[in-house]
Amino acid sequence: MRQNLILGIESSCDETAAAVVEDGRHIRSSIVASQFNVHAKYGGVVPELASREHLRAIVPVVREALDAAHAGLDDLSAIAVTAGPGLVGSLLVGVTYAKALCFARQLPLIAVNHVEGHIHSVLVQHPDIPLPAIALVVSGGHTHLFEVQRPGEYRLLGKTRDDAAGEAYDKVAKLLGYGYPGGPIIDKLARSGDPRAVKFTLARMKGNELDFSFSGLKTAVLRWTEEHDVQAEIASRKQIRNATTEEWLAATSQATRDLLASFQRTVIEELLRRATAAAEQTGAASVLVSGGVASNAGLRDAAKRDNGLPFYFPAPGLSTDNAAMIAAAAFPKLHARDFAGYNLKARASLLLT
Ligand code: KG4
Ligand code: ZN
Repeated sequence: MRQNLILGIESSCDETAAAVVEDGRHIRSSIVASQFNVHAKYGGVVPELASREHLRAIVPVVREALDAAHAGLDDLSAIAVTAGPGLVGSLLVGVTYAKALCFARQLPLIAVNHVEGHIHSVLVQHPDIPLPAIALVVSGGHTHLFEVQRPGEYRLLGKTRDDAAGEAYDKVAKLLGYGYPGGPIIDKLARSGDPRAVKFTLARMKGNELDFSFSGLKTAVLRWTEEHDVQAEIASRKQIRNATTEEWLAATSQATRDLLASFQRTVIEELLRRATAAAEQTGAASVLVSGGVASNAGLRDAAKRDNGLPFYFPAPGLSTDNAAMIAAAAFPKLHARDFAGYNLKARASLLLT
């Protein structure tokens, strides 16, 4: 038997994923089946459809991950599964399947918090990151700032009070007639706009200065569309499906490109400003950025230009949901023999602190 081979299973939202990771570091395989096409026409994830698609995909995806790693169930040290947070019907598919496999093969079951998984999508390739670190987790469901003392030890410093950063991208994209998910489309279109063209004034927030708020920005974008002559262009984009970047560009006026570039600049400034403030407050030695929004090219460029702390990002393919990060996050738990029982429940709003 190979040592420390963990099968990770992830099904918290709209990706069914399985991966095999050795020693918490070496990704032997990572398979992600996206439900992109199922949800695209609804402009967001439909929970009932997501559960049905997970049921369809889970067995072949796990098989493919094992085959690609040249491993069988008997080679595994443990099976790790995302127990929350996420859509409960989606989580249940992964949790139930992981339990059944563990029971059949008498393997330890390890429960992983999805947000902790995202943090490990960076740690898996940068295990020697200077600690303590600030972890900025930015995805469609989360916008959180944590202090990471060491893997497994987190302190929540701030979070969004309304929309997550990725959610703001998705809602703005939907409002302007682009497809789902909005983040990658806006990221590409923003490059051809003037990021200083539209000034958004964000409301000052009382209380924790490390909290975020993105719903005001979304409302400001809506107001901009009402004040500018863009209704016809939005209506024509709503007829387009599965377009390439060039096709979206051709369907986007310069004024809208400027709006998108300004929206993106504002989001990036908000994220970096608070991550830097968190690092100053805690004396952190580095910042690690994870979650779907961590693939944003504008955010990566801006972080690179920051002359302060070193920023670390996940490798391509590990920013958005995947199971390699779940298997990697389970590795310290394997050593601590921190195992879950067969009474493990899927929890829609599992906290990480
Ligand atoms: O981590 P993830 O796959 O799922 C959640 O846990 O939510 O993140 C998906 C989110 C979506 O909101 C998507 O629009 C956003 O990440 N996203 C991006 C980019 N790529 C994905 N946002 C901004 N720029 C991108 N390049
Ligand atoms: Zn995620």
